[in-house]
Amino acid sequence: MATLLHIDASVDLQGSNTRRWSSGFVARWAVANPQATILRRDLAREPPPPLTETFVRAIKTAPDVRSPAERDALLVSQALSDEFLAAERYVVGMPMHILTVPSTFKAYVEQVFHEGRVFKKTKGGFEGLLSGRKFLFFVSKGADYRHGTPLASFDMLEPYLLKLLAFCGVSQSDITFVSLNNALSPTGPDKTDEATAASRVDDLARHW
Ligand SMILES: Cc1cc2nc3c(=O)[nH]c(=O)nc-3n(C[C@H](O)[C@H](O)[C@H](O)COP(=O)(O)O)c2cc1C
Repeated sequence: MATLLHIDASVDLQGSNTRRWSSGFVARWAVANPQATILRRDLAREPPPPLTETFVRAIKTAPDVRSPAERDALLVSQALSDEFLAAERYVVGMPMHILTVPSTFKAYVEQVFHEGRVFKKTKGGFEGLLSGRKFLFFVSKGADYRHGTPLASFDMLEPYLLKLLAFCGVSQSDITFVSLNNALSPTGPDKTDEATAASRVDDLARHW
């Protein structure tokens, strides 16, 4: 049976758009998939620590000769990546921060996306190890980055996630973005985006 990992990255614990959409979706998906296991990772309530010099030394050192401090430095990474790899579906609440992903999500990626776990080296270069996994991102952006708008080319959030996952072997057809623009406007997120999001959620909750 499927295992879904629900990740939230918004630091807004009260009025977050991405938390509202990601948790609304997961609740509906869980009803349609009663046998599934749902794992939870909240990057605001438990921010992944930044990498340290000891961490980097540890990953360059063979496991059997690591010092106790080096072994300790890898514990968070091992736990987070074990949890990540236990799932094959991912629902992520993803606010835009400074044109891209929030720093807590980047810290999470640095802890989890390691050689031998999400990609491997080959004679020809690299091979992704995440093929077949599915990702659904609920994105909220303060301004408008839709195609054809002046800020469209400034959006480095969705392009970053697409490249990160493509590097790890995820097909573009297994990555879905449900995005809200203009979240900081006085009237709230764009109404067309909200209507599209609602209908995507209806469909995805039953078929994803
Ligand atoms: C630290 C920070 C940086 C932000 N940077 C941007 C930005 O570069 N571009 C933008 O359009 N909105 C930016 N915003 C606005 C958020 O993307 C917007 O409020 C979004 O709705 C946040 O998602 P949430 O409601 O789930 O927290 C930023 C917000 C914060 C807190």
